Amino acid sequence: MKLASTVLVVASVFAPATALQGFGAQSIGYFPYCATACNRALGSNFLSCSFDGYIPGGMMDSDSASATPACRGSNMPFLSSLAYCISTHCNHDMGIIETWWAAKSTGSGGAFEPPKWSYQEALMNVTAAPTHVLTAKDNLTSTVLSNETSYRNQYGTLFMVDREEFLHEKYGLVLLMVAVGIPLLATWLGYLPFVNPLIHKLKPYIIWPSTIGSYQVRPLPYLGGTALTRGQALYVAAMAILTVVFMAVHYETYQPNLWYPGQSVELMAYVVWRTGCYSLALLPVVLLFAARNNTLLWLTNWSHGTYILLHRWVARIFVLLVIIHSVLSLVYYVKTATMILAWARHGGFGDAWELSL
Ligand SMILES: *[C@@H]1O[C@H](CO)[C@@H](O)[C@H](O)[C@H]1NC(C)=O
Ligand SMILES: *[C@@H]1O[C@H](CO)[C@@H](O)[C@H](O)[C@H]1NC(C)=O
Ligand SMILES: *[C@@H]1O[C@H](CO)[C@@H](O)[C@H](O)[C@H]1NC(C)=O
Repeated sequence: MKLASTVLVVASVFAPATALQGFGAQSIGYFPYCATACNRALGSNFLSCSFDGYIPGGMMDSDSASATPACRGSNMPFLSSLAYCISTHCNHDMGIIETWWAAKSTGSGGAFEPPKWSYQEALMNVTAAPTHVLTAKDNLTSTVLSNETSYRNQYGTLFMVDREEFLHEKYGLVLLMVAVGIPLLATWLGYLPFVNPLIHKLKPYIIWPSTIGSYQVRPLPYLGGTALTRGQALYVAAMAILTVVFMAVHYETYQPNLWYPGQSVELMAYVVWRTGCYSLALLPVVLLFAARNNTLLWLTNWSHGTYILLHRWVARIFVLLVIIHSVLSLVYYVKTATMILAWARHGGFGDAWELSL
């Protein structure tokens, strides 16, 4: 059991790495959180149909109760307890709950199987309000109450994880759109009749001058490359500032978190996510700007030389993000591995650490 829970925690630590890959099914996340939290608060106890020949597969298939979706989907004590928990915690429309119920209530530890009864049917099975609160060593054989502490911690953990994920996906997308959007906008605005004269007036002051004396025409000493014009420097500054701001803002944490033991570990994980996401967002820009057949060359009036120059600077931001990502990942995994080993040695984690997936 101790080993199983250790494996589960390790699995949950690695889960965000797969979540990093952007949108797809992940963007749906754990919504509705009340239902997912109920499911997880009830999901690790044995059912009468547990161990019906099911051997847990890979990490994501781990299920501490070894109950298959088919087992869960036909097990009324599990479904009625789940339905009761949802009815006392959720305020969503019935349609949202039933959709989630049909798709997610039986878990993911094997081939997908929709439950035999709908949410409302399962709820009808509860004739008297349950009074027994499920504990870690109980077998789930009748309608029970979920542990409120477990529910709350599941809810807080999943909500924060999704919040952070949506946030950095949004910021990553903005980063990508701004990187490609600035040349497009700068070019197209120039074609507007009332903007054109203004740009012509400003060009000698903003766009053309070098940022460092006359170094635009000759390379900087010590392999510094070519100095940027003011226009190019503005682009680089915009990208750098945007990246720094998006790295710095809007962090929120939830403790006691079931994935990340301690606020500093949780924050570190979120920084790792963000650096990973932003570097992925900048990668297409790095490649596009360096390409000989850069589509932007057709769509904008910026020169190939400018794009090559900007390519180098965006690549520098990219590399910096990757380095922070790698170093922090290493620190993070060493730190959490040490914590996990220490706790395992001191008698494991207790039921709060057993996540069912
Ligand atoms: C609840 O479900 C069980 C198992 O299917 C069934 O035997 C029982 O009659 C149901 N009770 C009610 C009140 O529907
Ligand atoms: C729960 O079920 C398991 C597996 O069927 C069994 O070994 C165990 O003794 C049961 N525990 C309780 C408290 O009934
Ligand atoms: C619920 O779980 C928490 C944390 O695992 C535990 O401390 C508490 O005693 C449990 N409550 C009940 C009513 O079992």
